Amino acid sequence: MDTRITLLPMTEAYAPGAARLDQITFPGEAWSEEAFLREARTPSSFYVVAVLGEEVVGFAGMQQVLDEGYITNIAVAESCRRKGLGRAMLGALIDHCRESGASFLTLEVRQSNAPAIALYESMGFLPEGRRKNFYRQPTEDAILMTKRDLSL
Ligand code: COA
Repeated sequence: MDTRITLLPMTEAYAPGAARLDQITFPGEAWSEEAFLREARTPSSFYVVAVLGEEVVGFAGMQQVLDEGYITNIAVAESCRRKGLGRAMLGALIDHCRESGASFLTLEVRQSNAPAIALYESMGFLPEGRRKNFYRQPTEDAILMTKRDLSL
């Protein structure tokens, strides 16, 4: 990972930057700044941000319900991709799950999203199902991927 980039827990101060990156990455389906603020304040949610100077260049987040971990989203700024940032942030979520006693971590991903699927597979997530027409604009199936062995 680029040594100028720092991985930090997402405090409220980073919510605007995370919302900005979300808007650039997922126009039309991005979360509001308020939604990120809410996540930063929710004890059962865990988010990390990657910060370069003053700028949020990555974020990844999950919500935990009892012993179940659900990844809500992960994004890396285009200029910072393919440098290990996605892997590092996902690793932080997996570490958090292990420490908080979760028994699995799961997510949904567009079936055409080859970079994300490759990242998840490389970190031990396995395809376990499909939600038909889950996404809009364009309409597309979601692949459900789950990591059950959090020790690896
Ligand atoms: N093509 C193929 N494999 C890719 C890839 C690509 N474009 N990008 C990542 N990978 C895989 C590779 O196995 C890579 O390991 P390697 O570089 O040693 O070959 C591994 O993932 C880790 O890559 P990393 O550099 O940590 O990923 P990243 O920082 O570029 O972040 C995403 C990956 C998916 C978060 C980033 O592409 C992104 O923000 N995409 C848009 C948002 C998105 O689709 N989020 C997921 C929603 S479910």
